[in-house]
Amino acid sequence: MHVLVVGGAGYIGSHMVKLLSQRGFNVTVLDNLSAGHRDAVVGGRFVLGDLGERDVLDELLETQRVDGVMHFASHIQVGESVREPAKYYLNNVFKTQYLLDAMVAHRVRSFVFSSTAAIFGEPVRVPMAEDHPKNPINPYGRGKWMVEQMLQDYDVAYGLKSVCLRYFNAAGADPDGELGERHEPETHLIPLVLQAAAGRRPGVTVFGTDYDTPDGTCIRDYIHVADLCEAHLLALQRLWAGGDGAAYNLGNGNGFSVREVIETAHAVTGRAIPVQYGARRPGDPARLVADARRARAELGWAPRHAELATIIAHAWRWETRPSSPHPGENG
Ligand code: UFG
Repeated sequence: MHVLVVGGAGYIGSHMVKLLSQRGFNVTVLDNLSAGHRDAVVGGRFVLGDLGERDVLDELLETQRVDGVMHFASHIQVGESVREPAKYYLNNVFKTQYLLDAMVAHRVRSFVFSSTAAIFGEPVRVPMAEDHPKNPINPYGRGKWMVEQMLQDYDVAYGLKSVCLRYFNAAGADPDGELGERHEPETHLIPLVLQAAAGRRPGVTVFGTDYDTPDGTCIRDYIHVADLCEAHLLALQRLWAGGDGAAYNLGNGNGFSVREVIETAHAVTGRAIPVQYGARRPGDPARLVADARRARAELGWAPRHAELATIIAHAWRWETRPSSPHPGENG
């Protein structure tokens, strides 16, 4: 089977390409390298191109049979989406529609979409199941929810079947140490904490200590990137087996506070992590934890790297890899 991975040079996409290749799938990557890295594509065929270029999509889908598409090519920063909504709606919504239209035109009917916990907005129930109310509070979350709704309409009208996977906090790195997270700029907690542990940053700032949580800092559900990728493969196989379109929340169901993440990182790395305490970051809910029972029941998904210490250990190995452009001082 041939899978087109859009955004396959990015953090999660590159891990997906490696998994698909290892499992014997024929893989084509489409990526414009605006955020991805060519050297992160360790399998499949690479096509440099943007989702907005319909001729690139047409040529790709015309010249070879594609059995399914996975779409990771998104802008992902909530704060930036508030400052630059046009950028987010253009890429994450309109260009996604170009992709869907090209799929419909070329009769490719299986689609796995990278969605997010941000579609829910401020939690009214925790843990959050799939039917939690959808009240996104920023353009990033609104755009993802728009696409989810668009996909329901495309299913009814055009027979395009899709699975939407709503990630909670993607983290960790390839257990083999070959791939990892390389965002520029980096905004995510775990890589920032580990870069501080490695001495590449002066420290880490905790955004808010007055939340209504046991230690006053925000609680998140960190899910290993390799476990996310397994869920994508199961989702595509569900569609290939004739399953209906669906949406799944993906997390471990365990919440960890910012302080707990820093403590675990200290224990894993054995390094000092200088911490400063700062103001809340606008738009951060106090607690985001997934109820992922539906993915377990319907996809047969079972996270294999559920321990926070394992997630952090894999990310640490990546951050201190010998080939890192900025290796840890003693790493
Ligand atoms: N945090 C800090 N200091 C930092 C960075 C983060 O205290 O320097 C805190 C944040 O306030 C938050 C937690 O660490 O409480 C996790 O923050 P991340 O930025 O790592 O992750 P988010 O929960 O903000 O974001 C994740 C995804 C986004 C997605 C969002 C949806 O990474 O792509 O969930 O809610 F949009």
